[in-house]
Amino acid sequence: MEKINQLKQYVSEQLSTDTTGHDYTHIQRVADLAKTISKKTEQSDLLIALTASYLHDVIDDKLVDDTNEKQKEVQSKLKELDYTSEQIDEVMDIITHMSYSANLKHHYELTINGQIVQDADRLDAIGAIGVARAMYFGGHFGDAIYDPAQMPRNDMDKSQYREHTTVINHFYEKLFKLPDLMNTSVAKQMADRRSQYMHDFVREFKDEWQGIH
Ligand code: ADP
Ligand code: NI
Repeated sequence: MEKINQLKQYVSEQLSTDTTGHDYTHIQRVADLAKTISKKTEQSDLLIALTASYLHDVIDDKLVDDTNEKQKEVQSKLKELDYTSEQIDEVMDIITHMSYSANLKHHYELTINGQIVQDADRLDAIGAIGVARAMYFGGHFGDAIYDPAQMPRNDMDKSQYREHTTVINHFYEKLFKLPDLMNTSVAKQMADRRSQYMHDFVREFKDEWQGIH
């Protein structure tokens, strides 16, 4: 797994300054989750799943101005690390199609390795880590934690929901929906546990907000 070590170095340099929840610790957790899922999923290829995990946010339009340019850079990096052209094609196919927003209008059929990385990325948005990341994100963008007068909205694309939502509404608008979107049965089980925890958190939060206990 020398390839992976070199790739880690490249990715940590790319993401070293991010404060919006795409920091390198997110990447490392996604890679660890992908490994856990891959080991329990037939027909999966750990090298592809790990490579796509490490690279999945490097080409994100929220982090880079020119995504085409960045995609070319990633392809050359993989070539330099002796990945075959089939491996490079699969990794690029995964990282360009796996995001939530890319799948809002049309569901894209990812390879099994892509499904694993997508599940891992979504798992890292829920559970205790998900709660912490949502609060961190909301704080960064100056959103309120909660406003009982503001109802959660449906079917929002990214450009809309980044602007005005509360952190608690983000749970209803996105996070509570993620468990039903898991591709693999292993991730579905992990998501159900994390989801339970988030529902408990939001219930407690609302009770405390009202001074109930
Ligand atoms: P990705 O591109 O990895 O799918 P996002 O950029 O949508 O993720 O989100 C990164 C993290 O910030 C996630 O944990 C997500 O739940 C959180 N987040 C995104 N949008 C909001 C928001 N409007 N309010 C609170 N948290 C958010
Ligand atoms: Ni991610």
